[in-house]
Amino acid sequence: MKLTYLGQSAFVMEFNGYNLVFDPMITPNPLASSISLDTLKPNYILLSHGHEDHVADAELLAKANNATIISNYEIVSWYESKGLKGHPMNIGGKRKFDFGTVKYVAATHSSMLPDGSYGGASGGFVIWDEKKCFYFAGDTSLTYDMKLIPMICPALDFAILPIGDNFTMGYEDAVYAADFIQCDKIIGCHYDTFGYIKIDHQAAINEFKNAGKELILLNIGASIEL
Ligand code: NI
Ligand code: MN
Repeated sequence: MKLTYLGQSAFVMEFNGYNLVFDPMITPNPLASSISLDTLKPNYILLSHGHEDHVADAELLAKANNATIISNYEIVSWYESKGLKGHPMNIGGKRKFDFGTVKYVAATHSSMLPDGSYGGASGGFVIWDEKKCFYFAGDTSLTYDMKLIPMICPALDFAILPIGDNFTMGYEDAVYAADFIQCDKIIGCHYDTFGYIKIDHQAAINEFKNAGKELILLNIGASIEL
């Protein structure tokens, strides 16, 4: 499967012939000006929570591609009221889709939609098929609930964790998160987009290296085969 970084927490993943777009905030992000929304062609758009830096382009992308939005009940209802397609979930639930199984897991964070509507509880996604399993944490602190993931999901091949601090866990805590989820291959997100979350890349990479783990920081627009 191929994962492409689109800046902040936005990714597109080619998974079993489907394009899964995560937390698209591309057009408002000056760092992601090289990314054109037209190239993304999502079948599904997965939203961890309702904050603007995760949903800014969701409506446009869903409309243009007739994509299905997967998120919590409150967020999906909000998009359905705009005439878009959605599949509602809530924390702890899993569901088999045509591309694979999705489990919507706990995150410790807040959530609100761009117009101030209630955004339900923030979550993350664990996604798997017979061969691969990965975790997209969304915005979250380090939380003991992460220890449940290896108990209730297949073994993780990699995980996408926030590392920018201030609004989420920083990279030091993310090393503990990687321990909790029993995963040594981490792709960082939610850093550098604005002042509060600018990080020292080398320090972050070293922090993981010293713990015997790998932190991958993709350039915006870069892809990795996983
Ligand atoms: Ni947030
Ligand atoms: Mn955020």
